[in-house]
Amino acid sequence: LKKIRLGILGLGRIGKIHLENLSTRIQGVEVIGAMNPSSKGLDFARRFNVPLLTSNADEIIQHQGIDAIVIAAPTDAHADYAIAAAKAGKAIFCEKPVDLSLAKVRQTLEIIAASNVPMMLAFNQRLDPNFAAVKSAIDSGKLGTLHTIHIISRDPAPPPVSYIKASGGLFMDMSIHDLDMASYLVNSDVTEVYAKGFNLVDPEIGKAGDIDTGILILTFKNNVTAIIQNSRKAIYGYDQRLEVFGSDGMMKVENPLKNTAVFYDGDGAHMSRHLDFFMDRYAESYLLEMNAFIRALQSNAPMPITGKDGLRAMILAIAANQSVMENRPVKPEEIN
Ligand SMILES: NC(=O)c1ccc[n+]([C@@H]2O[C@H](COP(=O)([O-])OP(=O)(O)OC[C@H]3O[C@@H](n4cnc5c(N)ncnc54)[C@H](O)[C@@H]3O)[C@@H](O)[C@H]2O)c1
Repeated sequence: LKKIRLGILGLGRIGKIHLENLSTRIQGVEVIGAMNPSSKGLDFARRFNVPLLTSNADEIIQHQGIDAIVIAAPTDAHADYAIAAAKAGKAIFCEKPVDLSLAKVRQTLEIIAASNVPMMLAFNQRLDPNFAAVKSAIDSGKLGTLHTIHIISRDPAPPPVSYIKASGGLFMDMSIHDLDMASYLVNSDVTEVYAKGFNLVDPEIGKAGDIDTGILILTFKNNVTAIIQNSRKAIYGYDQRLEVFGSDGMMKVENPLKNTAVFYDGDGAHMSRHLDFFMDRYAESYLLEMNAFIRALQSNAPMPITGKDGLRAMILAIAANQSVMENRPVKPEEIN
């Protein structure tokens, strides 16, 4: 299998995870260059002996010895980097979302398609082994005819308000993963989105124009209904659960715990806390998604998750925002 030579743009929380996986856990790759505007991220890259360290993205994107670009910069830089990478003929791995503007996402995806370069979008939760087991059970018919899905996704604590302001809002920032998961599991088109949003966690989030608590009901063409519950703060820790109910059975994914020891006393049984946040809860999925990207490139196979998947989830998030504002169910085709 041919060696894939990579460059990475952005070395913050998620960029560091990708760089470390590529440098230490994935076979058949070589990280040629890493870019970050500040020295903090580059110091991290130095640990892995990345030959080219730069604060200039063009040096990576235009580099003749680089086949693929990993975009892990802040969201507002994704689209421009993806367009430049496509025009330079490089394969692209792009963190979610491609952009916060629907028009810009469509334009970016058109340019990528016209450039004929492969692009994978980082909906990592699809690769989580627990959720993947549910997907296989559905696809194998084990659960019979699917009736309902329930997804619960709650963060341990809200991000700073500065992050909230640039995030695109709860539905675009957090629910987007769940909207993709629901669509992926059900494998049918959403006909209607009905959402409620509340500001219950922190009044500062409300002042910034966002909600911190959301409930979404998705109706699919094949009559499956999905309910998604989101919160920016769960006092007991990162809460990522899923339940799928069908005519022949039910399957659910509970939260993995820090350890499986159980302490018993006069008050009952006490278990460990949940994992802290996405960095540890989804660590394996980040490795598996990057591995999937590399294997697809090596075998010229289609990308397992594409820009189209990102666009679909984004349209549902926008429909959810409109549903809250207008207090009515919204059809995805109303969103332009
Ligand atoms: N898939 C997931 O589970 C997941 C998780 C976290 C973040 N993300 C996405 O990854 C992206 C980065 O998030 P993060 O949490 O790592 O952010 P972060 O703030 O921790 O890191 C961003 C990094 O990019 C650098 N940077 C700033 N401007 C840049 C530019 N123009 N070009 C290149 N680098 C630049 C910063 O110096 C910083 O090192 C966001 O789009 C976010 O939505 C996805």
